[in-house]
Amino acid sequence: MHHKRLSKTRDGRAPGGWGLRFLAAALVAALLATAASAVHARDTDPDRCTRCHDETEDYPVLPVYKTAHAAVADERTRFGDAGCTSCHGDSADHLEDDEFYPEVTFTGDRTPVAKQNEACLDCHKGDSHVVHWQGSDHDFAELSCASCHDIHTGHDDVLFTDTQPQVCTDCHKQQEHELRRPSRHPVPDGLMACSDCHEPHGATGSGLLKEPNINETCYSCHAEKRGPFLWEHMPAREDCTSCHQVHGSIHRGLLEVRGPQLCQQCHLDEVFGDHASRMYDRDQLGTSFAAGRNCLNCHSQVHGSNHPQGYNFRR
Ligand code: HEC
Ligand code: HEC
Ligand code: HEC
Ligand code: HEC
Ligand code: HEC
Ligand code: HEC
Ligand code: HEC
Ligand code: HEC
Ligand code: HEC
Ligand code: HEC
Repeated sequence: MHHKRLSKTRDGRAPGGWGLRFLAAALVAALLATAASAVHARDTDPDRCTRCHDETEDYPVLPVYKTAHAAVADERTRFGDAGCTSCHGDSADHLEDDEFYPEVTFTGDRTPVAKQNEACLDCHKGDSHVVHWQGSDHDFAELSCASCHDIHTGHDDVLFTDTQPQVCTDCHKQQEHELRRPSRHPVPDGLMACSDCHEPHGATGSGLLKEPNINETCYSCHAEKRGPFLWEHMPAREDCTSCHQVHGSIHRGLLEVRGPQLCQQCHLDEVFGDHASRMYDRDQLGTSFAAGRNCLNCHSQVHGSNHPQGYNFRR
């Protein structure tokens, strides 16, 4: 499993660096041991943590003060009472002995994902966004909340339209590739986020979609395609993705395949059978398509029609 930030911090850290860091921290600890008794700081005072975990850390610890979680005036954060332990849990032994930190939550891969997420869900399980987390695709894949959320920063990338896609496509390479195609939803342009269509915390339907199914998700922006239509085209009513490739396509209009082939996936018999023999012969159809024409030249209302004579979507 790819843990976005941990892998960055840890891969860049030479194994030999660990011993040095312990030594340095131990030195700091020894120096501060005397100061601590004078200050009488509470165990939960964030100062007790930040005197070691300060701005000299590779990892940006202090920016957590710029976040909603450190808002002391907001009682729900518990930061005023519990400080850093509101997330990191009981750290008493760690404060006694800085080498003893496996008890602390969020020590990278040493803290099991379930324990990490429990710490977040302790406060967030009731949030409307997060209620479907248990059993969701991402829960099932054992993602930690922190694999998407940057907690120790004033700018949590995943919460912003322009920076979010990068977070998601760190893992979802296939979609990154699709969204680079010439016809696409404007996600790489910073105008749309994955979460405009997806609910990453879990959803009632499949595919982690924001709405119960694919078409409802599309209608939330393309309302005119919902109808109601006097004449419905069955695939449009049932599944927009029977013709469209949602993330991106090499064919204009986000189409799955181009031109007549799109329609012929389902309508081959009519075109080269009944339809063709009545209206045009095979050669005529062939010529008009070769000239770049399309079924749409005549059947322009493929999403549905409200014209009294619109039964074959020509008006
Ligand atoms: C006396 C210095 C000291 C104090 C005080 C201290 N720590 Fe640590 N902490 C360390 C050292 C040393 C490590 C070992 C790992 C490292 O940072 O490289 C560590 C490790 C950690 C880790 C795991 C880091 C990792 O790389 O996985 C977390 C999380 C942590 N401390 C949180 C806290 C919290 C929360 C507090 C306050 C309740 C606190 N620490 C107080 C020195 C300290
Ligand atoms: C809202 C929850 C939350 C609060 C509050 C919080 N942290 Fe963290 N902290 C985290 C999470 C989550 C991680 C792990 C990030 C990751 O896995 O990328 C972390 C990681 C760390 C690490 C380990 C960094 C590393 O090298 O891997 C240290 C040290 C740390 N926090 C110290 C602190 C200190 C000190 C405070 C208080 C000033 C604090 N944290 C407050 C959630 C929190
Ligand atoms: C002690 C309770 C508590 C814990 C533990 C906690 N949170 Fe929060 N979190 C809050 C509160 C309160 C807010 C502010 C909500 C608001 O303003 O409506 C918040 C806000 C957030 C936000 C929105 C931030 C923003 O800028 O709008 C995210 C994302 C979030 N939390 C994720 C997490 C994750 C991930 C964890 C675990 C690493 C976590 N929280 C742990 C209480 C908590
Ligand atoms: C796969 C990536 C991903 C994971 C994993 C994830 N989140 Fe989020 N989270 C997001 C995105 C994207 C948003 C912003 C859009 C949204 O609200 O759906 C968000 C928003 C939030 C918010 C703020 C909602 C608001 O009011 O704006 C909270 C709180 C939150 N997440 C908590 C959590 C918790 C707790 C977990 C772990 C149980 C978690 N998230 C796991 C991607 C993720
Ligand atoms: C315009 C809406 C929309 C946007 C924007 C969007 N998706 Fe999707 N995505 C969908 C639909 C619809 C499906 C199909 C769901 C199904 O088949 O149940 C899907 C499917 C997926 C799947 C499942 C695999 C597959 O292809 O069936 C993944 C993973 C995914 N999207 C990730 C992303 C990521 C990551 C982003 C942003 C970089 C993103 N999506 C942006 C609508 C969207
Ligand atoms: C740390 C890696 C990771 C990150 C980051 C991540 N995902 Fe996922 N995602 C997964 C895994 C693993 C699965 C389940 C296996 C699969 O279907 O690929 C999954 C499943 C999904 C699915 C359902 C796929 C299906 O087959 O139905 C969608 C949709 C999705 N992710 C969207 C997102 C979006 C949107 C974001 C960013 C907000 C995101 N993911 C961030 C790893 C990740
Ligand atoms: C969050 C809003 C939103 C959602 C949800 C959404 N779209 Fe879009 N769609 C857009 C935007 C914005 C554009 C770009 C319009 C433009 O460029 O003028 C677009 C463009 C399109 C286009 C035309 C592309 C072109 O090149 O002409 C198609 C086809 C399309 N969407 C299909 C879908 C389908 C199918 C779904 C459901 C899976 C869907 N959309 C969901 C916002 C959305
Ligand atoms: C039978 C195939 C088919 C189905 C099913 C279908 N479309 Fe289309 N759609 C097309 C074709 C063909 C175009 C024209 C593309 C072009 O040449 O630019 C188009 C164009 C679009 C456009 C851009 C131009 C416009 O008319 O606004 C949007 C948006 C769109 N479709 C959304 C949807 C949505 C939403 C659904 C599901 C309700 C859907 N489509 C289902 C074939 C289909
Ligand atoms: C995924 C399969 C599928 C695709 C792709 C598809 N259709 Fe259809 N189409 C249907 C079905 C199913 C019906 C309903 C057939 C019926 O009622 O006998 C239908 C009905 C029609 C009708 C009305 C037929 C009648 O007897 O009244 C026309 C015209 C039509 N489609 C044109 C098109 C065109 C043009 C395209 C390409 C843009 C297209 N279709 C793509 C499945 C499809
Ligand atoms: C030059 C205009 C034109 C073109 C191009 C065209 N059609 Fe038609 N199509 C018609 C007309 C007119 C009818 C109505 C025939 C009737 O009502 O008797 C029709 C009828 C249909 C029907 C209804 C069933 C039937 O056989 O009567 C289907 C399905 C259909 N067309 C599919 C297609 C497909 C798929 C293509 C592209 C491969 C296509 N058409 C290209 C004019 C056209």
